[in-house]
Amino acid sequence: MSQPFRSADIRKAFIDFFISKQHTPVASSSLIPHNDPTLLFTNAGMNQFKETFLGMETRDYTRAVTSQKCVRAGGKHNDLDNVGYTARHHTFFEMLGNFSFGDYFKEAGIAYIWEFLTADEWLALDQDRLYVTIYETDDEAFDIWHKKIGLPAERIIRIGDNKGAPYASDNFWTMGDTGPCGPCTEVFYDHGPEVEGGLPGTPEEDGDRYIEIWNCVFMQFNRQKDGSMTPLPAPSVDTGMGLERLSAIMQGVHSNYEIDLFVHLMDAAAQILEVENQQQASLKVIADHIRAVAFLIADGVMPSNEGRGYVLRRIIRRAVRHGNKLGAESDFFYKMVAPLATEMGDAYPELKNKQSMIENAIQKEEAQFAKTLAQGLRLLSSELEDLQEGDILSGAAAFKLYDTYGFPLDLTADITRERGIAINEEEFDEHMQAQRERARDAGKFDVDYSSVIQVDNPTEFIGYQQLEENNVSLIALYQDGQTADSLAEGDEGVIVLDRTPFYAEGGGQVGELGEIRTASGVFEVQNTKKSGQAIIHYGVVSMGTISTNQTAEAQVLSSIRAASAKNHSATHLLHAALREVLGDSVSQKGSLVSSDVLRFDFAYDKPVTPAQIIRIERLVNEQIQANTPARIENMSIDEAMDKGAVALFGEKYGDEVRVLTMGTEDIVDGKRHPFSIELCGGLHVERTGDIGLFKITSEASIAAGIRRVEAVTGMGAIKYIQQNDAQLSTLAGQLKVKRPEVATRVQVMSDNQRKLEKELERLQQKIASAQATNLLDEVQTIAGTPVLISTLSGIDGKSIRPLMDDVKSKLPDSVIVLIGDKDDQLALAASVAKSVTSRIKAGDIIRHLASELGGKGGGKPDYAQGGAPKADNTKTVIDALPNWLAAQLS
Ligand code: SER
Repeated sequence: MSQPFRSADIRKAFIDFFISKQHTPVASSSLIPHNDPTLLFTNAGMNQFKETFLGMETRDYTRAVTSQKCVRAGGKHNDLDNVGYTARHHTFFEMLGNFSFGDYFKEAGIAYIWEFLTADEWLALDQDRLYVTIYETDDEAFDIWHKKIGLPAERIIRIGDNKGAPYASDNFWTMGDTGPCGPCTEVFYDHGPEVEGGLPGTPEEDGDRYIEIWNCVFMQFNRQKDGSMTPLPAPSVDTGMGLERLSAIMQGVHSNYEIDLFVHLMDAAAQILEVENQQQASLKVIADHIRAVAFLIADGVMPSNEGRGYVLRRIIRRAVRHGNKLGAESDFFYKMVAPLATEMGDAYPELKNKQSMIENAIQKEEAQFAKTLAQGLRLLSSELEDLQEGDILSGAAAFKLYDTYGFPLDLTADITRERGIAINEEEFDEHMQAQRERARDAGKFDVDYSSVIQVDNPTEFIGYQQLEENNVSLIALYQDGQTADSLAEGDEGVIVLDRTPFYAEGGGQVGELGEIRTASGVFEVQNTKKSGQAIIHYGVVSMGTISTNQTAEAQVLSSIRAASAKNHSATHLLHAALREVLGDSVSQKGSLVSSDVLRFDFAYDKPVTPAQIIRIERLVNEQIQANTPARIENMSIDEAMDKGAVALFGEKYGDEVRVLTMGTEDIVDGKRHPFSIELCGGLHVERTGDIGLFKITSEASIAAGIRRVEAVTGMGAIKYIQQNDAQLSTLAGQLKVKRPEVATRVQVMSDNQRKLEKELERLQQKIASAQATNLLDEVQTIAGTPVLISTLSGIDGKSIRPLMDDVKSKLPDSVIVLIGDKDDQLALAASVAKSVTSRIKAGDIIRHLASELGGKGGGKPDYAQGGAPKADNTKTVIDALPNWLAAQLS
């Protein structure tokens, strides 16, 4: 064939080549990994074949070839910050790959690579430009490259465990913390001496000269959570080649952003934004991001505040911000979908089929961000009004911008930096951390037990009616991620039964606890989860031994079950009450029901007021006191919807659903409307009165636009009220007033405190002014210029400026450096008379001091200000200042 140059031709040539080698072409899988909790997005061609490599799934072919959509952002491989500023970082890319499932191995794997890259009828790359790396100990791969292919030994580079742990190497590929893995060989292309960079393994390897184009993994192991490796059923091959990199080579350019596809997308962006395409980073960002965004939306991800949706939102907002940088005044990003569909729609028809849906979703998100962008900018300018150059914007303000207005921290930093104002990032992080602790961790992915646990029949759940069952069979045991025949006293492990009364974590309710007893031992169940169709009991053998095939008694801890049921039913009543008080648009974003507490997260963009909280609590407690039965019915999904049952958006339901109805009924338009009707598979009370009491303990934001209510019920609620009551009594005792007078007393005390603080400030100013007069005695002359350097205790950044003005008025034509010292923080200020600024500038003095003292600061030629923490070297630095000034002034 003639040499392919367009990206589309290269994609086709790759597939054709491997079809000619008896590979079955397989379509790209979705960007949302199917049934794999260890993965945020599909990030490699092999993802869809994970179970085939592990031997858990067989296919009717043993060789496959794909062009796979991949996204690497927001998870393990998070390069979002770099994208647009380097030659080859992307959020979305296409991975060309060929795969052998127990068919060919190293020799044919390497031979195919070489043939496709170098044969005249395929890519015909110049062989002298190719280098390879192999895993340090892989002599077999070395011999194949050297003896069979004929590559000179000096172009085969061995790479060991260069990432600080066994098997942590650029040449040992692992899918994640667990899963298929093995040593790999990588092919590098030399872009030529005019490009900077060194060979792999050298200090300059990160340069752009030698670029990895193809990775060929010899899949041999399944990595376990503890890092150990178990062999795969059959050695296999998984390769991956970045289409964009290969296109750059074939098109004779050094950056992926110069290939046909990106040039077209960047031209389109420039046209939409009415700017000239000068390869600006912002155009690269937009061209890159539209691919990730459009493909993710096509595959069903929508912008949101959690997990995948949040990564998508960040990518869209980053693109919108870069559009604004280029002067976009209205929505523009969605207009990039059409040129993308033109570029890639033939290979990926979903772009054409879903074009208008994708455009709508992007435009909606853009419009929403544009609204908060303007509001956030207003808030920021009012925050900045009171600040001067050298000051620091509080982390709380930056967090508010992030949390309420969706402002990424870097956007805030860009704006404040222009005014010489830094952000207290430490404080920002503290706010984030506190929020994160409140939020359910969206990015947390557990070990995937489904790859280990294989049971033929689903576990039957019999717990709705009963707490215990005597004649269950212990059908499988696992220890350390592997099957086991028995577990001895003290062993931790996992048990699978044929039937179980234990409720597995799901629908927001945590897994149940209890005991599984056999004739020879007792297993304490510490958690229960689902793994595929199986219900698995996690725990430890507390007595004797437990073996497979034994008959067992399974018993759920009744007190915990009863408390969880109260909380679960109360969650439904809370949901209904929230909708009644805040409106039907309140949509559930998550919930957690344990025996101690219930949490309910929902989309709502402002705080719930104390009066609303009281109404919500009252509504729920009224329902509890009405003591109506909690009715569970199975019905068709259509019937449930017809009755107005609330379902979770995005949740998959079967044809028949379990519906829980609770509370008093209203008749509206001749139809009965129960207080709460929801689809639910969880465990509940029999009558609402069983809940006893409901009390909200907190209401807060956990992410932009998402609120969380936490509440307690039953004895938990009584305990909470008693504790609060006791605290109030203690406070009243300490304040020496009666309980109803506590609030008034505290108000009086805080008014007094404010008065005293004001008085203190006034006195401090007075002292400072007196100090200023005394300071004149400390003036020295350096290189003919009067210089005053003075350290003043008790002076902070706020009071140093008026003090400086005072001193300056008494000392014309001088250089004045004042160092305030309060609470272990130094406030730095320098004033340089206009007649002296040609010799030294105030900003230089502050920058010098800040850099010596590990602080920050800056300003104008005649006045500058900064701050630094007090440290051991403070005195030495200040004592050396006259000498430094002498050198500058002379
Ligand atoms: N799985 C390997 C990679 O992602 C080869 O396809 O690099």
